[in-house]
Amino acid sequence: MSDFDFDQIQKTVEAELERITSFQQLQVFQHKYLGRKGVIPSLTRQLSKLEPVQRRQLGQRINALKQRLINYIAEKEPLFKTQASSQSFSLSELSLPGIAQELGHLHPITRVIEEICGVFMRMGFSVVEGPEIETEYNNFTGLNIPLEHPARDVFDTFYLEPRAWIRDRKELKERLLLRSHTSPVQIRVMRARKPPLAVVVPGRVYRPDAVDASHSFMFHQIEGFMVDEDIRFSDLKGVLEVFLKAIFGQEISMRFRPHFFPFTEPSAEVDIGCIICKGEGCSVCSRKGWLEILGAGMIHPNVFKNVGYDPNKYTGFAFGLGVERIAMLKYSINDIRLFFENDLRFLKQF
Ligand code: DAH
Repeated sequence: MSDFDFDQIQKTVEAELERITSFQQLQVFQHKYLGRKGVIPSLTRQLSKLEPVQRRQLGQRINALKQRLINYIAEKEPLFKTQASSQSFSLSELSLPGIAQELGHLHPITRVIEEICGVFMRMGFSVVEGPEIETEYNNFTGLNIPLEHPARDVFDTFYLEPRAWIRDRKELKERLLLRSHTSPVQIRVMRARKPPLAVVVPGRVYRPDAVDASHSFMFHQIEGFMVDEDIRFSDLKGVLEVFLKAIFGQEISMRFRPHFFPFTEPSAEVDIGCIICKGEGCSVCSRKGWLEILGAGMIHPNVFKNVGYDPNKYTGFAFGLGVERIAMLKYSINDIRLFFENDLRFLKQF
């Protein structure tokens, strides 16, 4: 390689620079001259074959040219870039598809609550909500749950700062707690209104349970009750049959098992035939063929007395169900924690 060759190369470079009018052309030029196998690096490699004197001279010229190209590119690149983006805007932006916003939706638990309440509303029930902080009376005593009942223990109910209540709020004779079920809303509604009543009560409840696949310290229940002068156990059966068939399908079978609740007499637990194995016996129903769905019964006369109703005049039924349990069965979900972890991979499926 001689100085003459290099003069020639330099001329070509200048001519090519003149012709660059776009970012794309600039990139092609950069690749051609400065890329790893480009013209400048290969010239530099050839230098080693030259005599020291010539090597130094030519080396300086190559370096100067290289620096000129680097400066040129650094200067022009931003200009060509803005030009490129404004061009693509004017030419094609109008016909590009829009940027779709992600739409949120209701939480699966909210959807199940709305679905269940919807079924009861179509049967004439109204929906009422009560506070999550309750009095010990509404949560237990008014519901005929005696003082010695294990559910009233501090290990089974969240009491709110018991010592502070006694010390600072002397006017407050009762302890407050986080309601452990939605049944206390029975007391509130019956105190505030007169029969006939048909009410469902969705809401959060709290229990100091260790969290695992089937337990959470907070979950949701729906309480329901009906009170009038001639409400019978057969009314309870009819209402629950309509409800369970609406949620789990018309083919579902159901059974009432005798049980005990302090606030109902007689009381029952209600099962449906296992929706997974259709009664054959599987792991979901612990090989029983039946799934426990809710508790129910005829409202205890003591509860009526506690709210000032005449138990000789009025009768009524009540029931309570766990929303998570129904949602888990309905959607085949095996871990209650999924509802509360806010993992979008789970939530987006609904
Ligand atoms: N309160 C009960 C619980 O949390 C559920 C329940 C059972 C409610 C029977 C009722 C009922 O109204 O009649 O376990």
